[in-house]
Amino acid sequence: MVRKGIVLAGGAGSRLRPATLAVSKQLLPVYDRPMVYYPLALLMEAGIRDILLIAAPDQMPLYRQLLGTGDGFGVKLSYRAQAKPLDLPDAFRVGASFVGREPVCLALGDNVMFGRSLAKTLKHAARMEDGARIFVRRVPDARPFGTVAFGTDGRPRRLVEKPTAKKPGDAVPGIYFFGPDVVAKARRLQPSARGELEITDLLRTYLERGALSVDRLPRDVAWFDMGTPDSLLDAARAIRDRERTRGDKVACPEVIAWRQGWLSPTALRRRADALVGTEYGRYLARCAAAHR
Ligand code: DAU
Repeated sequence: MVRKGIVLAGGAGSRLRPATLAVSKQLLPVYDRPMVYYPLALLMEAGIRDILLIAAPDQMPLYRQLLGTGDGFGVKLSYRAQAKPLDLPDAFRVGASFVGREPVCLALGDNVMFGRSLAKTLKHAARMEDGARIFVRRVPDARPFGTVAFGTDGRPRRLVEKPTAKKPGDAVPGIYFFGPDVVAKARRLQPSARGELEITDLLRTYLERGALSVDRLPRDVAWFDMGTPDSLLDAARAIRDRERTRGDKVACPEVIAWRQGWLSPTALRRRADALVGTEYGRYLARCAAAHR
């Protein structure tokens, strides 16, 4: 069972400059809350409460100010700085002592998912001890993503990071489940000819020994990578539209915590009071009142 999670919230945010010249991408607002709430919500939906946040050293005070000990979200948060935004597998070198000898889930700081069957899907995925587990989603243009090619038997055959041809493909969203050996594997990885290490290279080590399991994201789950101005805006619009239509909020960490019994209605009420005058605060207050 995966009980530990990492939110990877460093990186240069270069595709979002000048918005990210002074502030980390994952602190930018997506509709009405900071981007980092979404990957946090993803881990929490998976049932994970012991969470490490990795960010750039100069942004650490801001993350601590925003998220604190995790108390307000019913989770335990620790922090570690990534000295340089080297690559994604670096999460397991920076987070080695946090991971220890346990399986772990990695959520990329700029990924959002929401949908009816999301919690069930993630909780199911978190029931693993070793190997690696990822999802795929068919996209019309796979160039911005890591991709999986399947054999005729339906098994994963090949992994390609950022294919060059503009073609449909099975893209890998930024949530990954790994056994405890991921730390040793990340340390052993050698840079590719381009001199870069990719998460795809790490996944390939599992594929090669038949230990990579791949599931399709259910259709009712929406997924966005918010790495560019357009994808950021698309995600914000989709969240707003969905919330307006349904009259509730998606990927709301406080409410996920309350539903799982990690936050009492009183604690939820306190969070709502701190956000008085906002729709977000009113939503928390409504949830707290519903179960008084
Ligand atoms: O969104 C899913 C995609 O994410 C996957 O399909 C790709 O296989 C994977 O490589 C990744 O591609 P991106 O180009 O979107 O990765 P990006 O550079 O945006 O980094 C993802 C997150 O990790 C982002 O929140 C920044 C953070 N990051 C990145 C690097 C390179 C760090 O915290 N430290 C780093 O060193």
